[in-house]
Amino acid sequence: MTNLPEGFLWGTATAGHQVEGNNTDSDVWALEQSGTPMLPERSGDACDSYHRWREDLDIVRDLGLNSYRFGIEWARIEPVPGHFSLAELAHYRRMVEGCLERGITPVVTLHHFTSPAWFSAGGGWLGTDGVDLFRRYVRQAKAILDGVPWVCTVNEPNMLAMITGARRAAAEPSGKEDGEHRHLVAGAMPPPDQAASEALIAAHHAAREELSDLSGLRTGWTVANQNFEAVDGADDLVAEWSYTREDQFLDAAKDDDFVGVQAYTRVVIGPEGPREPESGTRRTITGWEFHPQALEGAVRHTAERTGGVPVLVTENGIATASDDERIEYTTGALAGLGRAIADGVDVRGYLHWSLLDNYEWGTWEPTFGLVGVDRETFGRTVKPSGRWYGDLARRGELPS
Ligand code: BGC
Repeated sequence: MTNLPEGFLWGTATAGHQVEGNNTDSDVWALEQSGTPMLPERSGDACDSYHRWREDLDIVRDLGLNSYRFGIEWARIEPVPGHFSLAELAHYRRMVEGCLERGITPVVTLHHFTSPAWFSAGGGWLGTDGVDLFRRYVRQAKAILDGVPWVCTVNEPNMLAMITGARRAAAEPSGKEDGEHRHLVAGAMPPPDQAASEALIAAHHAAREELSDLSGLRTGWTVANQNFEAVDGADDLVAEWSYTREDQFLDAAKDDDFVGVQAYTRVVIGPEGPREPESGTRRTITGWEFHPQALEGAVRHTAERTGGVPVLVTENGIATASDDERIEYTTGALAGLGRAIADGVDVRGYLHWSLLDNYEWGTWEPTFGLVGVDRETFGRTVKPSGRWYGDLARRGELPS
């Protein structure tokens, strides 16, 4: 059996916009109402976790888990530029305290894809003051972080920069639809907008600096790890893809307290670019290749690239309607994680994506949850995979 470090985090993860509901001051909410083909379904009430977070935390505790990653919404905290809502900050402070009271270690994400609508309308990460505006928000958010040991500044900056690149390409005269790459994985999207990548790196460092005097707090960011694999001699191309879409963001984490690994699948690249999985390949609801080995690959690559920065798995999971398949996938992923730990990789925890069947950015179809949610009553139903995962956590055992 793999020896896990003292205090290993066993938890689940969510993101504000995907579970809270009615995040009406955010840019993604505005996009959802615009009729863009990229977001055919709306978040609406989502899982109503804005009101039901206590119930969610009770579930986390009762499953036997010891940590919960959740996001705070910049758009709620600063709905109007420069005007901060004390009531919303108090709301998120209650969530932090709700975790601590239940013996759950909070892992707080400051930015998970969504920004206030005014921020994006003013140029967002490509605007001249994007980094300063983010820093000003983080300075306010700091007030609620006392006692929080783990803070993720920006979720998947590489994805965010790729989305920015895709939107910019779509705006050009010969532009292609945002949604064109839907069936490919994130890492197969158009290249990230380099200006956005650099702004995000600067924003991350600014946030770390703002939070550096909070004692006991570790800060890092979470990168979408793509497991790029070269075939048919595409090694040079893969080196370029890996650098722009992943490694520059890992390089920016070299001095961080930890780095968040988020892995679901792999991207195979031939000389012509990313390849769709061959016909007959087992796929998940998102169309991604069923590839539980992704986590081990991502953890090893991240540790090597960052020179041994402690790893926290901040997301890993599967969109499937079959709960047995979720157990099968997670067993494979955790076994790989155990092999990496046995080889000396410093892994501090594993947070499964996701606690709930939530809003998957434009669609409700992919179900990643350990817990189902009735879309009308918002009733939660723990799935067998949730109990199975909780049992592993109680025993502190990674499957071999
Ligand atoms: C994101 C989540 C998303 C998940 C599954 C990650 O890219 O951080 O918000 O729901 O993958 O697609």
